[in-house]
Amino acid sequence: PLEKKWIYLVLAVIGLFLAAIFYTALVRNIHPPSHIETIDSARLHLSEEFAEDKLGVWTQPDGTIRVTLVAARYGFYPREILLPAETPVTFRIASADVLHGVHIPMTNMGTMVVPGYVSEITTSFPKPGEYPMLCNEYCGLGHDHMWSKVTVV
Ligand code: CUA
Repeated sequence: PLEKKWIYLVLAVIGLFLAAIFYTALVRNIHPPSHIETIDSARLHLSEEFAEDKLGVWTQPDGTIRVTLVAARYGFYPREILLPAETPVTFRIASADVLHGVHIPMTNMGTMVVPGYVSEITTSFPKPGEYPMLCNEYCGLGHDHMWSKVTVV
């Protein structure tokens, strides 16, 4: 009888998990990312968007900001960017070599940068200040020094 109780408990927990999955999928409409964009990591310098002279901060016609970055051992290029506060900023990031991660502490800006894919993330910075942009996926001996500077004004 004690074993049966545990079996029912386990079945109840599994049922709860399944219910949570179906609830988020069917009611809340939350799904894994469906927009997957690939890019040739070895030829970023030849691409329309990630060529050296296309990197940096661009103001879009609607007033939002687009930041195009390349992550490569060991930095995010360009190394320094200047952004306005309280404005939607869309980061588009590609890796030129291995897996990197990008994270701006004290903000919700963070994503992996997987070679062969474009990572896109939109956020805004409520507080002016200087922020480090760090790599948070181990990418080699220089990983500890892989960072660049974001200044929000
Ligand atoms: Cu790039 Cu760690």
